Amino acid sequence: MMTTRQVLALLNSYIAGDEDQFLSVTLQIAAQQARDGKTEDAEKLKRLVQKARDQRRLGSPAGGQTPIPMARPRAELQGLVESTYPKTTLATMVLADDVQNRLARVVRQQQERATLRDYGQKPATHLLLVGPPGTGKTMTASALAGELRLPLFTVRLESLFSRYFGETAAKMRVLFDQIAQTRGVYLLDEFDAIGARRGDPNDVGEIRRVLNSVLAFMEEPNSTDSLVLAATNHVEILDEALARRFDEVVEYVLPDPAAARAIIEKRLDKFKLNARAWSGLAPALDGLSPGELVRAADSVVKDAIIDGVTKISADAIRSALHDRQTFRGKFRRSSEL
Ligand SMILES: Nc1ncnc2c1ncn2[C@@H]1O[C@H](COP(=O)(O)OP(=O)(O)O)[C@@H](O)[C@H]1O
Ligand SMILES: [Mg+2]
Repeated sequence: MMTTRQVLALLNSYIAGDEDQFLSVTLQIAAQQARDGKTEDAEKLKRLVQKARDQRRLGSPAGGQTPIPMARPRAELQGLVESTYPKTTLATMVLADDVQNRLARVVRQQQERATLRDYGQKPATHLLLVGPPGTGKTMTASALAGELRLPLFTVRLESLFSRYFGETAAKMRVLFDQIAQTRGVYLLDEFDAIGARRGDPNDVGEIRRVLNSVLAFMEEPNSTDSLVLAATNHVEILDEALARRFDEVVEYVLPDPAAARAIIEKRLDKFKLNARAWSGLAPALDGLSPGELVRAADSVVKDAIIDGVTKISADAIRSALHDRQTFRGKFRRSSEL
């Protein structure tokens, strides 16, 4: 229940026309509700405060129509930016504890951004995702968008460079404007393209310009608290000045046997593999990325569906894993480029 003092504080801020104070008192009420165990009411209040602040920032009348945060990039970005509303959650991923904790903390800070701002703090917004292919960097972007119910905008920097060479910096500017105006999760994939192209003889200052504009952008205050995720397989070629500007660096590694098993079991879902089968599988799992493990699991599940069985044999999974190992042997060199 609201106390008389809280009602007075609300009325006083209303009379004074002090919206900040009004919303601030509301947040205090939300905090008290949360302390009293009324978490749902508290969440409702916090969401409304955030909505009010978002509306004010966008200049629309209070109570009026909220401009829909359309999962559609602006015209100048069409064809460059892919947009989706993912339903993925972090729980569907198998992650090292450390990675899990960092990502959960980012989600929490984003959810509590109204409260943080009230104390002059801001949520983590810039994350660098580093790790070998198939370890879940792209999936993390979907999961964060899913958890926060935000649109996911994906930009592949390498294709941006190759299609708009000479205009890349200008295109990046448009993208950054969108990031600052439309709250969402933005995935800058192939982020190392910025670092990798330095020293390119065809480059006439383009990479420098892009790098400088990215650096400048990352220093700009971002009132939408959009999440900006930069993903790369090659951290070693990233500029140090760039890496320093991220709030968090999240490192993905290949799964150990226990994690590999968890990934496959999650994927097999209703299809069961005899618990004893696992004992001999460790060598077949070795070195495979989550992406490769998922493909192996999917392939045995498809066979099982077609054969009308619900149990997976150790031989079937072993053979699917060996197939992935063989592919990997064949293609390792190109993936290391
Ligand atoms: N940590 C993970 N947990 C569960 N599945 C994963 C994980 N990482 C990758 N996958 C699976 O592999 C696929 C490819 O992963 P992706 O996120 O595209 O890797 P990356 O972007 O790091 O190259 C995903 O769609 C998902 O099915
Ligand atoms: Mg990826």
